[in-house]
Amino acid sequence: MEHATATHAPGELILRLRGVGKNFGAVTALKDIDLDVHAGEVVALVGDNGAGKSTLVKVLAGVHQPTTGTIEVQGKPVTLDTPGKALELGIATVFQDLALCENLDVVANLFLGHEICPWRMDEVQMEVRAWTLLQELAARIPSVREPIASLSGGQRQTVAIARSLLLEPQIIMLDEPTAALGVAQTAEVLNLIERVRARGHGVILISHNMEDVRAVADRIVVLRLGRNNGVYTAETSHQELVAAITGASENSVSRRAARKLEEVDQG
Ligand SMILES: Nc1ncnc2c1ncn2[C@@H]1O[C@H](COP(=O)(O)OP(=O)(O)OP(=O)(O)O)[C@@H](O)[C@H]1O
Ligand SMILES: [Mg+2]
Repeated sequence: MEHATATHAPGELILRLRGVGKNFGAVTALKDIDLDVHAGEVVALVGDNGAGKSTLVKVLAGVHQPTTGTIEVQGKPVTLDTPGKALELGIATVFQDLALCENLDVVANLFLGHEICPWRMDEVQMEVRAWTLLQELAARIPSVREPIASLSGGQRQTVAIARSLLLEPQIIMLDEPTAALGVAQTAEVLNLIERVRARGHGVILISHNMEDVRAVADRIVVLRLGRNNGVYTAETSHQELVAAITGASENSVSRRAARKLEEVDQG
């Protein structure tokens, strides 16, 4: 069966948020958030603990309803009132816990638990589709019949990302995909993100790791205390980025940020 590969022409605006806010009772988790994501770009979402990154991901995944603001997918206003609706509109999420089944193999995990399932495939077709997709992503997985339990952290992340690609989403959100990984596995996942971008998907990457972010992001969107605090690029200096994240940009770099910068400089 046919699957569209490149979803859209590179550069096309696929997701547009304006003035998005989210309150939890008296807590303002997000306020006046603007965000654009184009086809074939990696947008990193960074910010300190509590900055609102996960809340924004959950709003886009249809888990939380925004209190204010508008969300447009390909120029049309949408309401993401359920996770199923977000998926239908082409917004896929790889949550941090991955939600893979340890005892099942790669193929079973790829086809497991999709809210909407346009396929009617037998075992052999699923195996072929799984193999083809993983080849296309240059994934280093020994066999699609390998149980998840015997895969490395990086390989698991790859399976989770591949699973979300089966529905050919326009946007894929990755929440801390390298947080639990070593150096080599991180490099593998960053390569994978570049392949996903090359397929024409828009990628939203949430990460605390500035090196990873600078390695793959086309734009770096900083959130601070639930608000936008600037859009940067990989060319932005580490110091300036940390300053935007910690809020030191209004003045000079804070003592905490300065200490962090020294650590980075020392290796
Ligand atoms: N379900 C909830 N109920 C009440 N407050 C919430 C809820 N979810 C998030 N918050 C609050 O919203 C703010 C933003 O939290 P969020 O989890 O989005 O931050 P984050 O940027 O993902 O942080 P971290 O880097 O620690 O994961 C925090 O003040 C948090 O306490
Ligand atoms: Mg979070």
